Amino acid sequence: MSFPQGFLWGGATAANQFEGGWNEGGKGPSGADMMTNGTHTNPRLITTTWEDGLYYPNHVASDFYHHHTEDIALMGEMGFKVFRMSINWTRIFPTGEETEPNEEGLAFYDTVFDELHAQGIEPLVTISHYELPFALTQKYNGWADRRLIDLYLRYCETIFTRYRDKVTYWLTFNEINCGMMQLGNFMGLGILNEGTRDFTNQVDDPQLRIQGLHHQFVASARAVQLGHRINPNFKIGCMIAYMTFYPLTCNPADIVACQQQMDELNNYCADVQVRGAYPYYAERVWKRWGVDAPQMEPGDKDELARGTVDFYSFSYYQSNCVSTDPAQAQSSGNLIGGAKNPYLKASDWGWQIDPDGLRYTLNEIYGRYQIPVMVVENGLGAFDTLERADDGAPVIHDPYRIDYLRQHIKAMEAAVEDGVDLMGYTMWGCIDLVSASTGEMGKRYGFVYVDADDRSQGSFERYRKDSFYWYQQVIATNGENLA
Ligand code: BG6
Repeated sequence: MSFPQGFLWGGATAANQFEGGWNEGGKGPSGADMMTNGTHTNPRLITTTWEDGLYYPNHVASDFYHHHTEDIALMGEMGFKVFRMSINWTRIFPTGEETEPNEEGLAFYDTVFDELHAQGIEPLVTISHYELPFALTQKYNGWADRRLIDLYLRYCETIFTRYRDKVTYWLTFNEINCGMMQLGNFMGLGILNEGTRDFTNQVDDPQLRIQGLHHQFVASARAVQLGHRINPNFKIGCMIAYMTFYPLTCNPADIVACQQQMDELNNYCADVQVRGAYPYYAERVWKRWGVDAPQMEPGDKDELARGTVDFYSFSYYQSNCVSTDPAQAQSSGNLIGGAKNPYLKASDWGWQIDPDGLRYTLNEIYGRYQIPVMVVENGLGAFDTLERADDGAPVIHDPYRIDYLRQHIKAMEAAVEDGVDLMGYTMWGCIDLVSASTGEMGKRYGFVYVDADDRSQGSFERYRKDSFYWYQQVIATNGENLA
């Protein structure tokens, strides 16, 4: 058997894409509540108020806020060992600046954690997953301002203390390296520069992003130390959107360009969080971007060194190629752009499907850092068709999803055989939820179908897809039976 005993099989969600109840229980608006719905070709908009005629899909999302008991029972039925979720910062501190937390929000997560434990499921909590209090964007331009560090730590202290005995696994920031891309301004850093409206084409100030990331690094390092003081058993990880790149050709210029892109997009953030210091090539990145080194306060370097993470987690969906030939450079239609790989097929959203790339990536990460690794997002966003059996029962046949997952689990198995210390796997969007990049409900990832459309119309009933039963068997056999 390849997967170790105690391997953490499960699924993943984020509050802003799953929970709904956006203005209930004392919750304040987060950045995600200010984003409209879009499609693969028609971008989401970021608005500073809720405009008539526009639709904001994260407000209702999958309505986990009112369906949590049923949803957690479904996870239990599949045999989940772990459930990755985020706490919505604005449920605890509605504007991010209150001195006292919102008790109703804290009580909600108490219930969720208790229900999970009753099913034998361990929570894995992302502290900040693209849901910064919008008030902090408006007042401080998000993480561009150093004062966010203390506000984040107040939030961390509140939840670490409250859930000291209910949560062991934590992630400080979802896909922190999203801040290395223009798209990450608003989503990852809460930075909204004057004139931004189109989510895929934000007004960019790279200097602010480099500074905002520095603030997040310090915040993360201080959170790791704080968490370990509150409960020495806490396991606190980083979370990287792993962007796997290959050189398009064996032209040495492509090889070097690819190496530099991997350093910039993946390793820059992880090196700080895992190794506790900026890497040697950071100056090369700043120079290439035409920015200055981030401003640091005395003591920042020591904080980074003391607050290194316990494990490395990442999302993996696709791979791309790097080419120095301008005609090739942006030929793939993926959100994370790159040159098209002629050996790979793509999803309906243009994400190139590459299971072998997961084995490669796991070895890259483990080889570099030698700390436990966890795949906390992976899956296939696809259109599903709800059908009715002869007896009227709802059925969703999703062999394409099973096939995608099977191949990726096989790739993980191979990586474990290679010697990678892999802790677990949480499939993204285990119950259908709103897409982060497009705001669609129709881009479905789940084992469980949620009967709602892109405008939140539907019964919100939950239906088991074919993949539900398949995953149940994968978990029951600890990854042995993938048929
Ligand atoms: C990751 C995010 O980038 O990818 C999730 O952490 C997101 O929030 C997931 O939902 C899948 O992307 P999308 O755009 O299909 O929702």
